Amino acid sequence: MPSRLSVFRLKGSLFLSVCDRRMKEVEIGHHSVLLTRHEGKYSALGNQCTHYGAPLSQGVVSGNRVRCPWHGSCFNICTGDLEEFPGIDSLPCHKVQIGEMASSAVPGVAHTILLLGGGIASLMCAETLRQEKFGGRIIMVSRDHLLPYDKTRLSKVMNVESDTIVLRRMEFYHQYDIEVWLRKEVLSVDTDRKTVAFDDGLVQNYDQLLISTGCRAKALDVPGHSVYPSFLLFLQMLSEHNIKFYMNDIVTEIKGVNGKVKEVVLKSGKVIPTDVLIVGIGSIPNSAFLQGTKIQMNPKKLVIVDKYMRTNVPDVFCAGDLATFPLAMAKNQLVNIGHWQMAQAQGSLATYPPFTLLTCCFYSDVIALFFCLCAGYGEGYTELVMKGNIQAHKFLALYLKNDEVIAAAGLNFDPAVSAVAERLSSGKVITKKEAQYVRLSSYNYPYSILGAVRKEHPAQMLLP
Ligand SMILES: Cc1cc2nc3c(=O)[nH]c(=O)nc-3n(C[C@H](O)[C@H](O)[C@H](O)COP(=O)(O)OP(=O)(O)OC[C@H]3O[C@@H](n4cnc5c(N)ncnc54)[C@H](O)[C@@H]3O)c2cc1C
Ligand code: FES
Repeated sequence: MPSRLSVFRLKGSLFLSVCDRRMKEVEIGHHSVLLTRHEGKYSALGNQCTHYGAPLSQGVVSGNRVRCPWHGSCFNICTGDLEEFPGIDSLPCHKVQIGEMASSAVPGVAHTILLLGGGIASLMCAETLRQEKFGGRIIMVSRDHLLPYDKTRLSKVMNVESDTIVLRRMEFYHQYDIEVWLRKEVLSVDTDRKTVAFDDGLVQNYDQLLISTGCRAKALDVPGHSVYPSFLLFLQMLSEHNIKFYMNDIVTEIKGVNGKVKEVVLKSGKVIPTDVLIVGIGSIPNSAFLQGTKIQMNPKKLVIVDKYMRTNVPDVFCAGDLATFPLAMAKNQLVNIGHWQMAQAQGSLATYPPFTLLTCCFYSDVIALFFCLCAGYGEGYTELVMKGNIQAHKFLALYLKNDEVIAAAGLNFDPAVSAVAERLSSGKVITKKEAQYVRLSSYNYPYSILGAVRKEHPAQMLLP
């Protein structure tokens, strides 16, 4: 929201060397500015992605947007508007003022939207409501002690200070009249009366309800599991980095001395000396408080929603890790995707019934110090087309089903995965033949994924 307010004028001559659908990075004063041209119209945007600051000039342009090379945020190249998460702000648009100032509550508007959960899905919902000039009351309730924070940092940065990962400060919530109730747990929901009961005895009514209470980490259920402190992470490591895998085995016991873990015992009889135990065995939906309501859940206790993030009960929405939703690029199969960018997109959409979820899943992780990117939805893939070399830590893997690319994973080949994401989110198919054609030796490899037909100049191949 705040960055949309930035206005800055540049001299027209700076744009002269920018061709249509191309980008150019220039330094102006101390600012890195991204010059773009689309259908003859020029724009000057901030060049730094609003997520973690990647240079957007190294991303991929497709249609009227640029996709960040690091984690896939998309921005409108005419306006700087954020079109795909995980960035949370739009880009400064230096040429013209296009963004609208977010509103706050309007006195006398008696409409309450209650957001259950203080994660990214709720935050994006609250912000979108204000951006869309919703003038009623917004209440976000969380059992956390902390304001919404960047959870993804927890598994990437050691000893992170909570203060440094908070996404918005309290002043922000005050400024936009978003009530945040922390340390308050939802106990039950009554969809007939349109009320929610909390652990402190309070019963709050709502006009519309968003449930985005996410999931919590599953704990090991073996002797000793509760005695020792452990970090619960979702990480995969590469065995070549001195990480040993014990496959087809089961943890049966955790042994320790004076409250400190010492050994982990496996079913096979192996005993592993251990100083720190990290458990990554999946998650459990935070949906117990919905038991007995009319809200439909699947056998895993995930809430079923339609493409507008609506549950089967009127005025009740669900978004984020707790939702199972029809994924357009998987032929509307109901899926649950526990990703940051997906939770952002869903939270934002839940307030926007006319719009449907078309975002391409985009995921990044740091694996043994390498930055790995994934896009699409690879479940059920039957074939893999590999480019590059895993040992050399430089590769692109294209996952195929029915002779079409459904997902991609890449290491050190930016912006190839972004290019695939762009193509998939535009609804266009990448055929097996195209996948096999991609050459990683050529500097224009991503463009050959984007454009089915090779043309003379790589810049002309930017389009899906
Ligand atoms: C360590 C870690 C690293 C991750 N790294 C990545 C990554 O690199 N990339 C990526 O894409 N994704 C990553 N994820 C996943 C990503 O963080 C989630 O997909 C995202 O946070 C989901 O957002 P959400 O709003 O749906 O739920 P959550 O962030 O889980 O928020 C749920 C909120 O609901 C609250 N709540 C739950 N139950 C109740 C209740 N009964 N009453 C009141 N409040 C309640 C919780 O306290 C919390 O505030 C990571 C997750 C973890 C845990
Ligand atoms: S730095 Fe651009 S999406 Fe993360």
